[in-house]
Parts: sequence; C-alpha cells; structure tokens
Amino acid sequence: MILAIETSCDETSAAIVRQSEILSNELYSQISRHRKYGGVVPELASRIHAEVIDKIIDQALESANVGLSDLTHIAVTSGPGLEGALMVGIAAAQTLANTLKLPLIPVNHLHGHIYAAKAIASFRFPLLVCLASGGHTQLIYMKNNLSFEIVANTMDDACGESFDKVARMLGLEYPGGPHIEKLAKEGSPSIPLPHPIKHKPEAFSFSGLKTAVLQITQSAENYAHADIAASFQHTVANIMAHKIYLALDKFDVKQVILCGGVFANQFIQAVIKKKVQSIDCVVPPLALCTDNAAMIGLAAEEYLTNYSNSCEFVQCNTRLGVNFPRELV
Ligand code: KG4
Ligand code: ZN
Repeated sequence: MILAIETSCDETSAAIVRQSEILSNELYSQISRHRKYGGVVPELASRIHAEVIDKIIDQALESANVGLSDLTHIAVTSGPGLEGALMVGIAAAQTLANTLKLPLIPVNHLHGHIYAAKAIASFRFPLLVCLASGGHTQLIYMKNNLSFEIVANTMDDACGESFDKVARMLGLEYPGGPHIEKLAKEGSPSIPLPHPIKHKPEAFSFSGLKTAVLQITQSAENYAHADIAASFQHTVANIMAHKIYLALDKFDVKQVILCGGVFANQFIQAVIKKKVQSIDCVVPPLALCTDNAAMIGLAAEEYLTNYSNSCEFVQCNTRLGVNFPRELV
C-alpha cells in the first residue's frame, strides 16, 4: 500500500496505489493561480504546494479509505522538475517516512509518465515509448522493465512547450494544449507549416515550427486563429507519428506507449494510432496523461519489484536529500 506524492511542477497530487490498482488520486491544480503570468512561476508553485500538500494527502487517504497505519511505503517524485516545488513533496514524504518508519521511494517523474500506462495494459517487451510533456519529448526503447534507452530527443523546445507558446501567440490561456485542441475543432489544417529535420530519426525540433506560426500570426493575410490552431496541431501530429514510424523501422517492438501531457490530445493520438496500425498502441487515460501522483505510485511498484534492497531508496545526496536507486542513475 503505497502513498505517492507528486509536486514537480504545478499540480499538487497524492495517491494511494496497491498492486497496480489506483485506490485514490487526488490533485490540486494550481493552473488558475499561474494563469495571469502566462506560465508557471516556480516560486509561487512551491508556496502553493506547501499550502495544500497536507490537505491533499489527507484527501488521498480518505477517499481510498486507508489509514496511515495501512501504508507500507512512501513514494515521491524526486526529479526532474522545479527544484523548489520538488522540495515540498520530498519534505512531506521524508517526514511521513521517518515518522511512520517506512521506506521512502524516490521516483523519476518520467518513469511515472511511462508506468501510468500500466493502469490500463500490461507491458509487452520490447516496446517503444513516446513521451511528450511540457519539459520533455523523447522516444525511449525499453527492452525490459526499467531499462530505458533514449533513441530520440528534442534539440530545442519540448512538444508541450511549443503548444504553450503557440497558444500564447493566439491569445489563448496557459496551458495551451487543451485550448489549441478545442479551437482546432473549429478550423481546418489548411496552412502549410514546416516539418523540421524530417529525416533525422534521433531528434525532434519544434522551434522552427513555432517561428513559422509566429510569422503567420503576424502576416498581412489575417488567417483565422482556428485554422492556425488546426494547422499547427495537424503538423505536430504528423511530426510525432513520423518519428515513431522511423523508430519502428529500426526497432522491432510489440507495443507502443504514448505518454505525457501532450497525449491528452485526442487528435494526435488518433493520427499516431492510424500510422502504427497493427502494433498495440497504449495511451493512459486522460487523467493519467498529465501530472498526477498515481503514476508515481505505479512506477514505485516497479522499483520495488525490481530492486530488492529497500535501503537503496533512502540514500541521501546533497541536492535534493534523496537519491535514485543506484541502477537508475
Ligand atoms: O505531462 P505534463 O502534465 O507536465 C509535464 O511533465 O510537463 O504536460 C504538460 C504539457 C503542457 O505543455 C500542456 O500544454 C500539454 O502538456 N498538454 C497538451 C494537452 N493537454 C496538455 N498538449 C496538447 N493537447 C492537449 N490536449
Ligand atoms: Zn509530467
């Protein structure tokens, strides 16, 4: 029975997970409090996490109908993320682990995004992960559990970041992804946009695409915003689908997992599923695509299954006070 905590960015979340079952997944989204700044303000995020973390943990226990004495482990996101924000979750987790004398499991946030898919499907190795969030865009080849070979990475912006920046150009609120998806439904993908480094299988690039959109918004042609949104989304979907397609040529896999906030986007999901066709393509449910603590609990279970020595989870280091299990560094 794991209590998992996630505070890496602007969602304060706590969850109870037991044997791959999510008993609760409580979340306080700070979005409305960052919106007027057009993005996440790190210092504000830390303060809000500190304000609400206790309440969210209580809610997670309560809605799972679980008491502190039922817990066997505490898991917490230890990075990557905003350092001040991470600190709040880590401090809460360490306090609980020390007080309750339970092992503390520091979890890599990206592993959380990947293992979110476990909520709906068993992993079939070897598999290919496409992870697209606000901070990362990667293709990862997994030969086995907890074996991560990064086969493509972004050279500049992350995919989610490009959604956020294009949204801002169109006068839409942060985070941009859901607003662009909504607006795109009213437009048509009629504006040609570049597909940078199309033939490079090991890299993504979104900054040229972003600049192209900026030029279009500033052009004299007065394009409809809905058409710009639809064209941008369409181009991103093709970029993602094409990179996955190139990777599938090189790696013989049994499954493709799409994870991270960008895959909350139904259009992008559909384009990729059509492109990979015969391969089993798994996308976590919407609430598990964006940041949440349940995914951290699911990844922690994998650590527990694969790393027998729990002492490895409680080592200290200077930066964040916790360390990954040695094998994961
Ligand atoms: O995984 P996530 O919640 O947080 C990070 O770890 O970064 O991803 C957040 C990102 C944001 O950039 C947001 O605009 C994007 O995911 N996003 C979307 C959608 N929902 C969230 N992008 C495209 N379409 C969406 N529906
Ligand atoms: Zn994330």
